[in-house]
Formats: sequence, C-alpha cells, structure tokens
Amino acid sequence: MPDAIVTLQGVDKDYPLGAVVVRALQGVDLEIDAGEFTVIAGPSGSGKTTLLNLIGCVDVATRGTVTIDGANTHKLSERDLTRLRLHKLGFIFQSFNLVGVLDAFQNIELPLLLQRDLGAAARTERVRGLLEQVGLTAFAHHRPGELSGGQRQRVAIARALVSQPRIVLADEPTANLDSVTGAQILELMQALNRTGTTFLFSTHDPRVVERARRVVRMVDGRIDSDSAMSPAAAVSPAAAVSPAAAVSPAAALATLTPAAADHPAAATSV
Ligand SMILES: Nc1ncnc2c1ncn2[C@@H]1O[C@H](COP(=O)(O)OP(=O)(O)O)[C@@H](O)[C@H]1O
Ligand SMILES: [Mg+2]
Repeated sequence: MPDAIVTLQGVDKDYPLGAVVVRALQGVDLEIDAGEFTVIAGPSGSGKTTLLNLIGCVDVATRGTVTIDGANTHKLSERDLTRLRLHKLGFIFQSFNLVGVLDAFQNIELPLLLQRDLGAAARTERVRGLLEQVGLTAFAHHRPGELSGGQRQRVAIARALVSQPRIVLADEPTANLDSVTGAQILELMQALNRTGTTFLFSTHDPRVVERARRVVRMVDGRIDSDSAMSPAAAVSPAAAVSPAAAVSPAAALATLTPAAADHPAAATSV
C-alpha cells in the first residue's frame, strides 16, 4: 500500500493489573492513508487512547506490528523512535500536557528545541506564525495557568503542528471545550487537513464524528466497524457557524478570534 502512513497488523495491548490482565486491544488491523481525516469512535474504555498511544509511539504493542511511514516501530532504537516522534508525529493529548512553567510561546517552541534543526531566528518566526494562526499572539507570554481551556487547547494544537508533522494524533480534542470553541478547533483542523496533513482523532463527540471522512468504531478493544462517510454526510450543520466548507486555512484560523473562542465555560480543564 504505497499511500499507507500508518499500518497496524494483529495488534494486541495487554495491561497487567495486579493478578489480572486488561486486554485493552485485541487483534487490531488498521491502515491509515496519507491525507485522511479519520475518527476513532467508541465508548469510554474501548481502547481509543491505547490505540493512539501505540500509533504515537508513546507506548508499545504487546503483540503485532505498528508501522509508521514505512518504519516498523518495534525494530527502531529508542533514539530513532524519538526522532520519529519529533519529526513525523504531532500529538494533542487529552489533558494537553503543556509545561506549566513555560509560557505559550515556549511550549510551542519546545519541539523545535528538541529537534535542533532550526536556529533561534527561524524558530521564533515559526512559533510566531503558529501563534498568529491559532489566534494567540496576544497571549504568547501567558503560562497555561493563565489561559482558558480553549486557549490551552490551541497552544497544544500549535505545539503539535510546529514541527510540520506528517500525521497529527488528537485524543478527544473537543472533550474540554464548549461547543463554539470545539467547532472552531475542528474547522482549523479540517483546513489544515486540506493542505495535506493527516489527522487521526479519538472521540465520542458526535460533532467530531459527523465531520470525519472515515469512522473506525472500537468496542471492547476491537474494531467493530470501519466506514467511509459520504461527502454529504461529512458536511456538518455546524459549518453554519462559519462558511468553512471551502475556505483557506488562514480564513478558518481567522474564525478563532479571542472573543469567540475564549468562552468562559472553556476555562474548566486541568
Ligand atoms: N495503564 C493502564 N493500566 C491498566 N489498564 C489500563 C491502562 N490504560 C488503559 N487501561 C484499560 O484499558 C482499556 C482501554 O482503555 P483506553 O484506551 O483508555 O480506552 P478509551 O480511551 O477508549 O476510554 C480500559 O479497560 C482501561 O481501563
Ligand atoms: Mg481515552
């Protein structure tokens, strides 16, 4: 499959839990092509986070193989795995995992410092561009504790995108957001997807599911169904929030105005 960017074959994940073993994933086969906008749906405990952690190379499968962009991750050294994570993957964690003592600018810059590919001036330019794209220029020097949930989510998105990864993984990206901010975040991701970035989300939020082009449903650690959405089904009524169907990333990002996105109800996440 020349276009597959992620391939899982016969993947099991067991978690030893005292005397028992939790079988979090069982016999998962999955192929994601470059350019997809795919949702992993399923109830709490069905294995969504475990699946994303394996694809994101933050955890390893108990059995089976996980191939990312042609590399069998089980055969990579720790150093090569770190390189893969840094250069090809962007991970938006459910709890954002921002560094509390760093401000928004520094959090977004962090992957670039670890990559050590860009000099200070190029890093600053890249980070400033991302801050502007997610509508946080005025908040560059605020720490996570001084930002709302929606703003923190946008910092996490900018941090996942700053290294220009081939694939962005997002674990329940709208779970901590009010509906308006959630719709704007989804529009931003759809706009970026149109420029070629592959997106893989986990969610049980119907607003996210209805925007997907492919929905993989998990039940009890197994893939229960895998369906392509018709173009009509992929156009969400929430698109009425802004005419996002055919707009450029810049236009979609422009909808992330601080006034609309920083709904006080969003400021509840940890
Ligand atoms: N670190 C862990 N130790 C033990 N069990 C775990 C661990 N992480 C997840 N599990 C279990 O694995 C199953 C799948 O969890 P998870 O992938 O978090 O599901 P989801 O993200 O769909 O809610 C659940 O039964 C969960 O309790
Ligand atoms: Mg989860």
